Amino acid sequence: MKKLFLSICILASLISIAQESPIIPQPASLKMGEGSFTVNNKTSIVTKGAGLNKSAKFLQAYLKKMYGLVLPISTSGNINGNIVISYAKPEINNNVTPALKAVSNPIPGAYTLTISEKEVIIEGENEAGAFYGVQSLIQLFPFTKSTNLSIPQLLVKDQPRFAYRGMHLDVARHFFPVDFLKKYIDFIAMHKMNTFHWHLTEDQGWRIEIKKYPRLTEIGAFRNGTTIGRYPGTGNTNTRYGGFYTQAQIKEIVQYAADRYVEVIPEIELPGHSSAAIAAYPELSCFPDSSTKVPAKIAWNGSTKGKQVQQTWGVFEDVFAPTETTFKFLENVFDEVIQLFPSKYIHIGGDECPKEAWKKSAYCQQLIKEKGLKDEHGLQSYFIQRVEKYLNSKGRQIIGWDEILEGGLAPNATVMSWRGEQGGIEAAKQKHNVIMTPGGWMYFDHKQSKNEDSVTIGGYTTVQKVYSYDPIPKALSAEDAKYVLGAQANVWTEYMTNTSKVEYQIFPRMSALSEVLWTPKEQKSWPNFEKRLLNQFKRFDWLGFNYSKAFFDPANNTPETTKKP
Ligand code: ACM
Repeated sequence: MKKLFLSICILASLISIAQESPIIPQPASLKMGEGSFTVNNKTSIVTKGAGLNKSAKFLQAYLKKMYGLVLPISTSGNINGNIVISYAKPEINNNVTPALKAVSNPIPGAYTLTISEKEVIIEGENEAGAFYGVQSLIQLFPFTKSTNLSIPQLLVKDQPRFAYRGMHLDVARHFFPVDFLKKYIDFIAMHKMNTFHWHLTEDQGWRIEIKKYPRLTEIGAFRNGTTIGRYPGTGNTNTRYGGFYTQAQIKEIVQYAADRYVEVIPEIELPGHSSAAIAAYPELSCFPDSSTKVPAKIAWNGSTKGKQVQQTWGVFEDVFAPTETTFKFLENVFDEVIQLFPSKYIHIGGDECPKEAWKKSAYCQQLIKEKGLKDEHGLQSYFIQRVEKYLNSKGRQIIGWDEILEGGLAPNATVMSWRGEQGGIEAAKQKHNVIMTPGGWMYFDHKQSKNEDSVTIGGYTTVQKVYSYDPIPKALSAEDAKYVLGAQANVWTEYMTNTSKVEYQIFPRMSALSEVLWTPKEQKSWPNFEKRLLNQFKRFDWLGFNYSKAFFDPANNTPETTKKP
């Protein structure tokens, strides 16, 4: 009896090992086999169906870059001995041995990956699904250079949990080159995420070329210095800092992302966080002739006369005036923005807009009366609704930070809930779409270690805490929960001066986030993720990514790291 029990235990542990794969995010269903398949210079990538070449090329490029293995791509090769990328639909799939079909699922991107001793078959429900199948396959290759790559026999049947799986990046507080943005998009793609929220305008810099308004980048893209250290800082760098993306570069990035099934959503901040635009065009302010206020205790470089691009962090009083001049300016800016970005959504900011200037402005007070608005919050709502109406007329939808709830939500707006979950809950109850980015779980500018050795903005969010997040708040009914499109991590870069620090801040938390967004809730398991995370660290080393090792420090392994929302 004892012997039988022991055998059962051993068998159970073997099964549990056998059921593990290194894949992150954890697939919806996975069965490990016994044998393996070897990819070598006799293997071809065979595509069966239009639109699959992007996935084939991605796989080809990865194998070439990492192993020096160049596999031909063909549309008519044998299945036997090859990697086949196809669609799960029977009519396209005629020539492919029917594998497990992707189950019907309202969130697009399902796929199956079948590895037998004879072949590898990826079947995507659509193009993106096939691409996700390739991402899973890539994760099975070894971390040693070889031209004979052995991968385990398995059967994966997979699908995303949420439609919106995002990463944000602030390129205004600090500016990052095009090559890094491409790398960032690769990070998103490898985690089967699908949205890059590109925060392009701020008090400290305007980063998108607008041909009609050249001063936005001539003046607005550069500041005369930057606070050193944590706010209010120990001094000023006294060095001009800045940069911007040309429209040609933006098109290149949007295309690069589209080739990886990532949509780029631009954010043009309004009415607050607009000091850089105002420095370029002072007439956008309620008080064009007043100089920019420099916060007390801040070391400033250069002139404080007139309108200045901000050199330090925070929230600033000088915001867009709700005048016809400003609305015309914004419409012209958005005309160029929508030419560059095909995304359904345009993010219009809406957060942290102080109302002091509007309170002091006779024009604003008159407008409040004339339009029958309650107060300055009503004026903010009027501002957002004007912009929404314009963008809706161009076939686009707006996303705004949760402050856009104040004074009344614009009719078709999607709310990005960042000050906790309350804004998201409220918006979903009002039948508006919601993207959850609550600070306590989704802010990757927070420190992830008690023993952090570089400056961060504050907050403490471990990889385990990120993993514990569920984007569906308990307060929502099943009906209202349908308005939650997904979640996103925000990466504000006040204290990320270089790309290596950005990587450090996002890894490994982004890997945890990918599982929050992709893996069915019942499949999520921290102990199981922990095991795969060890392998993920090896992958980061293999790919040359910088990452935090806070996970290994017992100081971070405390109950507060696992608090549930
Ligand atoms: C925000 O963090 N101000 C959206």
